[in-house]
Amino acid sequence: MGKVILTGDRPSGKLHLGHYVGSLKNRVLLQEDTNNEMFIMIADQQALTDNAKNPQKVRESIIEVALDYLAVGLDPSKSTIFIQSQIPQLAELTVYYLNLVTVSRLERNPTVKSEIEQKAFNQSVPAGFLVYPVSQAADITAFNATHVPVGDDQKPMLEQAREVVRDFNRIYKTETLIEPELMLPPKGQGRLVGIDGKGKMSKSLNNGIYLSDSADEVEKKVMKMYTDPNHIRVEDPGQVEGNVVFTYLDIFDEDKEKVAALKEHYRAGGLGDVKIKRYLNEVLQSLLTPIRERRKEYEGNEDYILEILQAGSEKAEKIAAQTLDDVKTAMGINYFK
Ligand code: TRP
Repeated sequence: MGKVILTGDRPSGKLHLGHYVGSLKNRVLLQEDTNNEMFIMIADQQALTDNAKNPQKVRESIIEVALDYLAVGLDPSKSTIFIQSQIPQLAELTVYYLNLVTVSRLERNPTVKSEIEQKAFNQSVPAGFLVYPVSQAADITAFNATHVPVGDDQKPMLEQAREVVRDFNRIYKTETLIEPELMLPPKGQGRLVGIDGKGKMSKSLNNGIYLSDSADEVEKKVMKMYTDPNHIRVEDPGQVEGNVVFTYLDIFDEDKEKVAALKEHYRAGGLGDVKIKRYLNEVLQSLLTPIRERRKEYEGNEDYILEILQAGSEKAEKIAAQTLDDVKTAMGINYFK
């Protein structure tokens, strides 16, 4: 049996290479398997839970994220790409699921907990933010998803969704909802370190290479990359571990023998940083050039992007409406039938 796959992102600005290795690349592969049915959701309602005063920013990010999706090769003829807020059934499902979840369970959700600390809400956590795991359970169940490919930071969300499913089915003596499985990214592709080597690639650390960066920008960033601070002269032996250039070559270069040979040479001494950086630049450019080319087909054509998202949202709504109907029937609250 094929998989029904649902995944998505909160729109908060353009996507970088960390997103590419952590999820986008895998999504394109999953999309190419015709046994799979793929739904990709731009979670704008979830973004609004901590951006209520800034809907314009969320709107702009929707377009940016959609453009990045299309540029990496997510294909609206193969995957249903849609906008969360345009599917009213998701909000309705959320209302019913909220009654199955306690406030203390939400407060214990590790991802919610750490986000509340990071975002420094202090005492004023928006109620919608606290309960977003429940709305995420609605997103997943509305499309009968069997599999949810996300990073390990999303594990607690999936656990809560599974609890909602089990509780719903038990309480209403039904098998309406499907318990989804977590699909973690392939080994070694969890999180990508930033070009400074300090932390994972992120907007806030300003250490990212973006899918939308020009060839020049990418090259400049590669040339500044953190390597081995003790590798001063070309003839000095260099360290490969923790050296961002080699970390990236391990991930992005298909030619594993070449990478092994470069590492050996670098360790022995005699291989300069400029050389390995030029080589990494070539590897990254060959990944990013087709992405850049595809982006050009859509860039500046917001109407076209919105048409794609509208078509996806209309298709998604039909499926969510059926699930909502089944949910209300299971609960015995479809009064007018
Ligand atoms: N929580 C995800 C994020 O932070 C976005 C998201 C919302 C999602 N609903 C989802 C992911 C359902 C997978 C399935 O990016």
